[in-house]
Amino acid sequence: MRILITAGPTREYLDDVRFLSNASSGLMGYAVAEAAVSAGHEVFLVSGPVNIPPPKGCELHAVETTDQMRTACLGLFERCDGVIAAAAVCDYKPRNRVSGKIAKTGEPITFEMIETDDVLAELGATKGARWVLGFALEAENPRENALQKLRAKNCDWIVLNSPTAIGAETNEVQLIDASGHSTCTLAGSKRDVARDLIRWIEQNISGR
Ligand code: CTP
Repeated sequence: MRILITAGPTREYLDDVRFLSNASSGLMGYAVAEAAVSAGHEVFLVSGPVNIPPPKGCELHAVETTDQMRTACLGLFERCDGVIAAAAVCDYKPRNRVSGKIAKTGEPITFEMIETDDVLAELGATKGARWVLGFALEAENPRENALQKLRAKNCDWIVLNSPTAIGAETNEVQLIDASGHSTCTLAGSKRDVARDLIRWIEQNISGR
């Protein structure tokens, strides 16, 4: 299969030197990309800034902002059979990015933040015959919220994980399908989880 994978955080710049982001290490998405390449798939990895090398054998598209991630994904998805969206996309960006560097004034500063585009929702809305797997990072009412995201973003499956996954070496996730059933729990190192996830997709692709 040809698989699009998103990974890592995105950044939203307040001015030319300061940005808003999150603590995603990219480990989970990179492990999924590595597992997919090992299983013989062609992988297009769209990644925000991380400190780990890309897995050998995948086609890396390095991006910084959510807009850049969106543009790269929309271009690549046309050529793919499915997408795994593991990126921790920055949800907000300033309404106006200031050019140059904002100088201190000694007073509090306020930014008006607006939501970034939802990359996964856009891919889901245009998926046609392609499959879509999202990730949901949930702190409260995890199952309900994950299922709501699955439906809102037109995913076939969603991987539910918790904020403790951010930056960690290990992970424990639940895979939920569109009927709301938890189909399985995957646990172990992020590499183990990634390998089992790719296997699971291969086995369940026809029954979705
Ligand atoms: N996602 C995306 N584009 C966004 C936000 C999220 O593509 N602007 C994708 C993520 O890669 C993930 C899924 O949507 O696969 C869910 O992301 P998550 O951060 O759990 O949820 P949000 O939709 O951002 O909602 P909230 O922050 O309110 O929980």
